[in-house]
Amino acid sequence: MSEIYLDYNATTPVAKPVQEEVSFALAEKWGNPSSGHRLGQMAKKALEYARTQVASLLNADPSEILFTSGGTESNNIAITGLCQAMSGKGRHIITTCIEHPSIMNPCLHLLEQGWEVSFIKVNSQGVADPMEVERALRPDTVMVSVMLANNETGAIQPVAAVSQVAHRHGVLVHSDAAQAVGKIPVDVKDLGVDYLSIAGHKLYAPKGIGVLYCKTDAPLGRIMFGGGQEQGLRPGTEPVPLAVGLGAACNFVARDINAESERQKCLREKLYTELFRLDHTIIRHGDPENTIPNTLSVSFVGKNGAEILSRVPEVMASTGAACHDRTIKVSHVLAAMGISPEVASGTVRFSLGRGTTESDIEKAVRLIGRLFDRM
Ligand SMILES: Cc1ncc(COP(=O)(O)O)c(C=O)c1O
Repeated sequence: MSEIYLDYNATTPVAKPVQEEVSFALAEKWGNPSSGHRLGQMAKKALEYARTQVASLLNADPSEILFTSGGTESNNIAITGLCQAMSGKGRHIITTCIEHPSIMNPCLHLLEQGWEVSFIKVNSQGVADPMEVERALRPDTVMVSVMLANNETGAIQPVAAVSQVAHRHGVLVHSDAAQAVGKIPVDVKDLGVDYLSIAGHKLYAPKGIGVLYCKTDAPLGRIMFGGGQEQGLRPGTEPVPLAVGLGAACNFVARDINAESERQKCLREKLYTELFRLDHTIIRHGDPENTIPNTLSVSFVGKNGAEILSRVPEVMASTGAACHDRTIKVSHVLAAMGISPEVASGTVRFSLGRGTTESDIEKAVRLIGRLFDRM
């Protein structure tokens, strides 16, 4: 039986029109954008066009778009660069307990360097409360970083409300939007953020390209040193074909984002309903009305998520806990939601995408059902 890919939050395939643009750029736009001659300037033009495509998806100005190598780098530049620029004001930052390691680990690194970090708790649906952010704000707080959509549960965070609260106190706001961009409309002005991270490979662009949106005049210190590319903030010869790919991907997802979002939501609800029919004890994580439309995180109580996926290898999805030396290591996200290790160990995250069909969902449920009959 053919394989069913339900792991689009891990990564997406490169969309056909994106592949074509990247191939063309690889063949024709290989000049160095810093070169003054015709080939260099052709590459520069392609790079700048890609920048306008990304800016248009986010409702930003092209001058506010910095190309990076991906979500991890964007998050590192945002956290470290901002703290460096603002250290004269104070040494306190606020984030949540459910961030991706590319936010968590720079924060832990800052802790080791004497900074203070407040980690905001989430409720049982995996959502942070802007009032908690307000309570954590101090005169020496320099930034708040709250992700837009969680990678494990899909839970959408109240970033616009967080921005309002933080800005009332003169504090800058960053959001890791790696899991949201391309799945739901993301408008930096509506969100009111000063910085926002994107990972190209989560929205049908190639791996190795991302973006940090940095609002005009928002401070950002340099953490890398080299040539003056990307306003000196992300130096190094720009990977033009990858940037072209990200621009094309932004264009690709923008065309029908609302219709596609609705389609995936319907398929996800079908998946949940059919899984529930198989096993009435399953527990769903997150409020379906407040998650990105493609993500379904469920726990099969009394079963093991990793075992399910290994015994149904045709269904490619992710787990929410890992077993090391017979102890269960629950993901920090599920733990923050108060989910017990026993329940967390039965967690499977299904994430749908543009390639997912109704027949994929039916096949996946059939395969899992057959396994449950055998178990
Ligand atoms: C929420 C979130 N932020 C950041 C990243 C890191 O992105 P990248 O793999 O492009 O470094 C990921 C990737 O899984 C993610 O899910």
